[in-house]
Amino acid sequence: MKLFWIVFSLLAVDMLQAEEISKKYETNENCNACHMEISKRWETSRHSNSHFSKNDLFKKSLEYMVRKNPTLILDEMKVECAKCHNPRITKKTVAEKDKYLLLMGIEENKEEMERVLNTENMKNGINCVVCHNIDEIHLDKSKGSEGMNSVKFGKQGTMFGPFDDAVSPYHKTAQRAHFMSDDPTLCFVCHHSASNSHGVEVYATGKEYDEMGSKEGCKECHMSEKFEGFASNYSVAGDKPKPRMVREHRFASVDNSNIMINYIDVKSSTRGGKFTLTLKNKTPHFIPTGYGLREIILHVDYFDRSDKKVGEEKKVLASKWVDDKGEETIPHLAKSKSKDTRLAGNTTEEYTFDVPKGATHAKYTFSYRLISEKMAKEIGVTDPFFLKEYIFSERRIYLD
Ligand code: HEC
Ligand code: HEC
Ligand code: HEC
Ligand code: HEC
Ligand code: HEC
Repeated sequence: MKLFWIVFSLLAVDMLQAEEISKKYETNENCNACHMEISKRWETSRHSNSHFSKNDLFKKSLEYMVRKNPTLILDEMKVECAKCHNPRITKKTVAEKDKYLLLMGIEENKEEMERVLNTENMKNGINCVVCHNIDEIHLDKSKGSEGMNSVKFGKQGTMFGPFDDAVSPYHKTAQRAHFMSDDPTLCFVCHHSASNSHGVEVYATGKEYDEMGSKEGCKECHMSEKFEGFASNYSVAGDKPKPRMVREHRFASVDNSNIMINYIDVKSSTRGGKFTLTLKNKTPHFIPTGYGLREIILHVDYFDRSDKKVGEEKKVLASKWVDDKGEETIPHLAKSKSKDTRLAGNTTEEYTFDVPKGATHAKYTFSYRLISEKMAKEIGVTDPFFLKEYIFSERRIYLD
């Protein structure tokens, strides 16, 4: 009996704790010397900002959740969200006993949580050792993405990648299928789907993709097409690094790339007093997808012969989330989704407006917001990065 308990408690500890990342691999700085290009590219991506200390929207969302629902414990939420936002966290859950100590404000306990939640590795975001130390992926799509809980990390110091013959002086290497093809499984570890504590689905990019029956994967658009380059700039005296077929580590998003222009077409036409904007979504998922408060905005201003504004129209593609009182809230607290005007994958939609009397020309803009203005204010987001309107096209059209 005693033996059983010892074994059991060792197992329990193992399940709740993961090993801390060694100083040798903890941030992308450790890789800079030999993977400079990759590292610099990755730094431009949102993956490098996934820790609450580097992301005003994420941080304010956590604080908002606790403010709105005082039974939630901030540190416990941080651990819960880290599953995907910082999956090398050493604590997988907060034990009941620790919750009480945290609630009671025991200093020692608070300090320990503070340390666990703010390691150099975690502050570095979804970095190299998150993806490249993934040995196996066990994704159960019926449960959705579970971040760290759907992977088995390998031994520290082994970098898994797409090649079977890579040799490095700094780390071991091994080939894994999840880096090789267009298969999206690696991305689905966090981007397939997930629900909030009320069972409301708040992310569904991978599910949208599966439901479209798509096969193209995510890398062509969000990394790049394969091209001949180098996996490492390191070379043994005299030798050149080996040319390799590689992709860019840009994890392209609205703010660091032109994917909006490349994969979403906007056209205008006028006929019989109507002005039509046609939107063609060439992506295999909804637009906008992912985080639930994104907005795609079509804005039309009408002018008369003397360039005086005579009217305007606005069409917003977005979701709206409400709490049990029917008041607008953030996806993570929502009891339901009250509205969804987004455009499905590989779909074309026409938005037709009546031209006001006297209008001779129109100006339309096609833009994007990372979070709706109203909810940004409600949560208290202040970083201009999130408050800005990203404008992708702006055209002047003569109306016949
Ligand atoms: C979100 C997951 C993810 C992160 C984070 C990530 N990588 Fe990768 N990496 C990949 C994928 C996927 C491939 C395979 C690309 C392909 O199809 O060729 C890859 C390929 C590579 C390769 C092989 C060369 C190539 O381009 O195919 C190297 C080297 C590499 N990564 C290093 C790094 C370093 C260094 C970092 C941190 C600065 C990093 N990676 C961060 C997913 C990631
Ligand atoms: C001292 C140089 C050096 C450092 C530092 C270094 N690497 Fe490498 N790495 C290499 C070389 C060399 C290769 C093999 C390149 C080739 O074969 O084309 C490589 C290959 C890789 C691969 C591809 C493995 C495969 O089998 O496909 C990955 C992934 C990778 N490194 C990740 C990292 C990460 C993450 C870090 C930082 C924690 C890092 N490397 C630090 C030199 C280095
Ligand atoms: C370990 C979990 C995880 C994995 C694996 C992962 N991502 Fe992410 N990804 C995230 C999180 C979390 C964010 C949001 C980060 C932020 O904005 O703070 C994100 C952001 C992004 C964004 C930017 C979205 C935006 O907000 O602008 C893109 C694009 C993206 N990921 C693509 C990919 C692709 C492609 C892959 C597979 C090669 C991948 N990701 C793998 C967790 C992950
Ligand atoms: C044909 C190109 C294409 C493919 C393939 C594609 N995407 Fe996208 N993705 C886009 C475009 C364009 C956007 C910007 C519009 C938007 O936010 O919805 C986007 C947006 C995103 C975002 C949100 C970015 C943000 O700023 O919030 C995520 C997350 C994402 N894609 C993940 C994926 C994943 C995961 C896959 C694979 C299952 C994938 N994408 C496949 C083109 C593509
Ligand atoms: C199942 C994995 C997963 C979990 C768990 C998760 N997230 Fe996310 N989160 C993501 C992914 C993937 C993205 C990127 C989607 C996109 O940008 O469109 C993201 C993006 C976000 C963003 C937008 C960030 C930005 O830079 O624009 C916020 C805010 C956010 N999550 C809050 C939370 C909070 C709060 C929790 C915990 C209650 C949480 N997330 C738990 C996967 C997850």
